[in-house]
Amino acid sequence: MPSIISVANLSKTYASGFKALDNINLEINRGEIFALLGPNGAGKTTLISIICGIANPSRGQVSVDGHDIITSYRAARSRIGLVPQELHTDAFESVWATVSFSRGLFGKPKNPAHIEKVLKDLSLWDKKDAKIVTLSGGMKRRVMIAKALSHEPQILFLDEPTAGVDVELRKGMWEVVRTLRASGVTIILTTHYIEEAEEMADRIGVINKGEIVLVEDKATLMQKLGKKRLKLHLQNRIDAIPAALAAYNLELSDEGCELTYDYDTNGERTGITSLLSDLRNSGIRFSDLDTVKSSLEDIFVSLVRAS
Ligand SMILES: Nc1ncnc2c1ncn2[C@@H]1O[C@H](COP(=O)(O)OP(=O)(O)OP(=O)(O)O)[C@@H](O)[C@H]1O
Ligand SMILES: [Mg+2]
Repeated sequence: MPSIISVANLSKTYASGFKALDNINLEINRGEIFALLGPNGAGKTTLISIICGIANPSRGQVSVDGHDIITSYRAARSRIGLVPQELHTDAFESVWATVSFSRGLFGKPKNPAHIEKVLKDLSLWDKKDAKIVTLSGGMKRRVMIAKALSHEPQILFLDEPTAGVDVELRKGMWEVVRTLRASGVTIILTTHYIEEAEEMADRIGVINKGEIVLVEDKATLMQKLGKKRLKLHLQNRIDAIPAALAAYNLELSDEGCELTYDYDTNGERTGITSLLSDLRNSGIRFSDLDTVKSSLEDIFVSLVRAS
């Protein structure tokens, strides 16, 4: 797949001497939803700021739809909509005015029909005449998205789009993002909500301490690192795990009523068959069982710990 953003050997050292990005290489595919995951201070906002031309790189190149962000700044920037992490809006402007004004900043001719569509898509139409200061935090965030979309960008950066947005609205925003992707927009989002990446992304990049530690298709990632957990609800509580079962590294919980077994779905054998027969031999009966797939969260935590 051809990439729409190309980041090569990018490093950033702030004036303080702090190295926030260390030799980042990253290709963003046209039309994908790419989730950038990383702990606080990992460098997510710094990376986005450089791509959007807000911060200068110390070293390396970035091109956006074939345009170098330094030598062809305007062409590169006009392709991008950015919803920054920090909300700053013109409090006393109306929603309609502020979103229309943003479009003007990119030198695009007025297009009320487009602004109307954007506001409707973001469920802001009934607030179009409201002053921003009167909106809730979640609504303000949606106004920021509307502003970012006002000039019909091909690429949308969402830096923590759903921080402080309630569950209902968050789902609504996911819908908006999916609709945008369906219309051909490439979306790069950063998030602390791993469920958001899991739910939304086509590919996931993990950044930690200024370095990209992993970029992978979400599905491949979940499969590759996927572990499964088998839970057995016992008919009768037991005080300890019998020695005959030691090799399975079982965990006893729920006051002796639940056994947990972790296994690798990619392993040649899961060990489940022998576990069940060894349980029977040990006289342990279970009333129910279920399996849970380890989440991206587990994967993420183990990656960040390891690096
Ligand atoms: N203007 C600046 N001057 C000096 N250091 C900075 C500046 N901006 C950011 N940093 C540092 O660079 C590192 C990366 O910051 P950045 O904002 O990119 O992280 P982040 O991944 O977006 O974190 P968060 O999840 O908290 O938003 C941090 O250690 C931060 O303190
Ligand atoms: Mg940030």
